[in-house]
Amino acid sequence: MSLVELHGLSKHFQRGAETIAVFDGLDLDLGEGSFTALMGPSGSGKSTLLNLVAGLDRPTGGTVSVGGADVGAMSAAEMGGWRARHIGFVFQSYNLLPVLTARQNVELPLLLTRLSRAERREHVETARGVVGLGDRGEHFPRQLSGGQEQRAAIARAIVSDPTIILLDEPTGQLDAGSAAEIFALLRPVNRGCATTILLVTHGPPPAGAAAPVLHLDEGVLRAAWSSCRSCGPTARRTSAAPCSRR
Ligand SMILES: Nc1ncnc2c1ncn2[C@@H]1O[C@H](COP(=O)(O)OP(=O)(O)O)[C@@H](O)[C@H]1O
Ligand SMILES: [Mg+2]
Repeated sequence: MSLVELHGLSKHFQRGAETIAVFDGLDLDLGEGSFTALMGPSGSGKSTLLNLVAGLDRPTGGTVSVGGADVGAMSAAEMGGWRARHIGFVFQSYNLLPVLTARQNVELPLLLTRLSRAERREHVETARGVVGLGDRGEHFPRQLSGGQEQRAAIARAIVSDPTIILLDEPTGQLDAGSAAEIFALLRPVNRGCATTILLVTHGPPPAGAAAPVLHLDEGVLRAAWSSCRSCGPTARRTSAAPCSRR
């Protein structure tokens, strides 16, 4: 079953008199529980695509549907609550709030839910355990290494047990080995919690990651690994999973 359906999607930006058509008539289906890597040259529209799926931006034309919700047509008021329930986002520069500790940053999305303080603490501990943030919870972002900031940002994205996690080049400033680490870290969330994941990445997934790769270039999306047999919407939620409750 598809979780994300993009149909005839177009996005144009206006810069002065110039219109930038990032894509025109783009179609994409992402299966529920799938783990997909998205690659493409700088400026090809990868961030724009993630923003549209997350409802952080609106399409110029076409539809964005996530779990049956028409994301492009939601009011701003509906959008806030919907995003808090369904979207986990890891920004390229992580966007941790500098005045909050790592633990407080991770807890932030839960303040939009009705969870009690004790429940929030439990969810934060689960998320911290999944990413291996260890004893760095009381440190501020400036006191963390790049890798630790990345882990805090991922913990913040998974803490509310979202339907889909979108990651925008989270390995941008880190060494090549950390792409493999991200896959290793997110795979149990994908498999155990049946969380759908779309990861924008510089390099292809590490060998054995069994993730389909989409390539975006000049407004066209194509699957780079059409022979990927063991990937796709295979994940099923299991009780022993490192996820909190929806
Ligand atoms: N808010 C914006 N205003 C104008 N142009 C934009 C805006 N956001 C993105 N663009 C343009 O859209 C194109 C795609 O950008 P982006 O999605 O950031 O690419 P990528 O993430 O693949 O590097 C680029 O040409 C970029 O300059
Ligand atoms: Mg980008």
